[in-house]
Amino acid sequence: MDVPIAETDCSSPLNIEYKAAHQAFSDRWKKTDESMCRHSMSFHLLHSLRNEFFASYVYLLEKVPLVKLFPVTCEIIQGEKQFYHRAQQFYQDVPASEEGMLGDFVEISDVDLEGSRNFLKRFVGPGKAGTLRALDCGCGIGRVSKGVLLPMFEKMEMADMMEHFLLYAHEEYLGDDADRIETYYCYSLQDFTPPAKKYDCVWIQWVACHLTDKDLMNFLMRCKKSLRPNGVIVLKDNMARQGCKLDPVDSTVIRHLDIIRDIIFKAGLEVLGVEKQEGFPEIMVPVWMVAMKPVVSP
Ligand SMILES: C[S@@+](CC[C@H](N)C(=O)[O-])C[C@H]1O[C@@H](n2cnc3c(N)ncnc32)[C@H](O)[C@@H]1O
Repeated sequence: MDVPIAETDCSSPLNIEYKAAHQAFSDRWKKTDESMCRHSMSFHLLHSLRNEFFASYVYLLEKVPLVKLFPVTCEIIQGEKQFYHRAQQFYQDVPASEEGMLGDFVEISDVDLEGSRNFLKRFVGPGKAGTLRALDCGCGIGRVSKGVLLPMFEKMEMADMMEHFLLYAHEEYLGDDADRIETYYCYSLQDFTPPAKKYDCVWIQWVACHLTDKDLMNFLMRCKKSLRPNGVIVLKDNMARQGCKLDPVDSTVIRHLDIIRDIIFKAGLEVLGVEKQEGFPEIMVPVWMVAMKPVVSP
C-alpha cells in the first residue's frame, strides 16, 4: 500500500532534515552518480516513513480506541453541523406526546419504564447513590422523569433541545409533579454543561444516539463532574449488533455496546452494571442499559 507524502515547503524543518540526509548519503556514496543517490535516498525515506507511520498508527489504534472511532463516525455522519441540524428539523415536527417520543413503538413504554426502575434500584440506596436529585437528559416530554425518576428522587431537573417538549412537560404531562422540577434546561447536550456536584443520578435515554462519539465522550465527562458522592450515570439506548449505523432521517447513530464501553472508558468512567432490556418486540434494535460512575484514582 502506498503512503501519500505531502509536499513540503523549502524552509520547513523536514526540508533541513532532508538536506542533512542527502549530505549523509552523498558522503557515503561519493562514487555513485546524482540520480542513483537521489533514488536510494528517497527509497530509504519512503521505507522509514512507511514503517514508522504505520507502527505508530497501529499502536494508536490499539491503545486509544477512540482514534479508531472518530473516523468511523465522522465517515458515516459526513458533517457534524448537518447531523445536528437534521435532528433539530426532525424534532420540530414531532408532536409533544408519548407517540412522539417512541415513534412506532409506543406500546413498549410500560415495559421500558419497569425495566429502568428495576435496573436503577441496583445503584440507589444506602451505601450507593442518594435520592435527593436527578437530571433527565434528552428528556422530551418527561416520560422517563415521570415513570422512573420522580418516584425515586425528591427533586429533578430536565434538559432537552426542544422547547415545545419542555413546555408540554411542565404545563400538562407531569401534572402536580411538575412542582418538583427545579429547572428545565433548553439546551443541546453537546453545548450543555450541567451544574457541578448536583445530581445523584444522571439519566441519558434515547439521546446518546444523537451525539457524535466526541461529543458523547465530552458530555459524559461533564456529567461526571455534575455528580454528588456515589452518584451514578445511566445511559439507555439502541445498540447496533455490529459497528455503527447511521439513520439520516432523524440523525441518529447507533453503536455496538463495545463502542459505547470505549467511549465511557475514555470519559474516565467505570461501568457498574450492564443489562439488556427484555420484553421488547424482536424486530426492534436491541436496547441496553449501562450504569457508570467516575473512576477513582488509587
Ligand atoms: C426519542 S426521544 C426520547 C425522549 C425521552 N428520553 C424518552 O425516553 O422518552 C429523543 C429526545 O432527545 C432530544 N434530543 C435529540 N437530540 C438532542 C440533542 N443534541 N440535545 C438535546 N436533546 C436532544 C429530542 O428533542 C427528544 O426529546
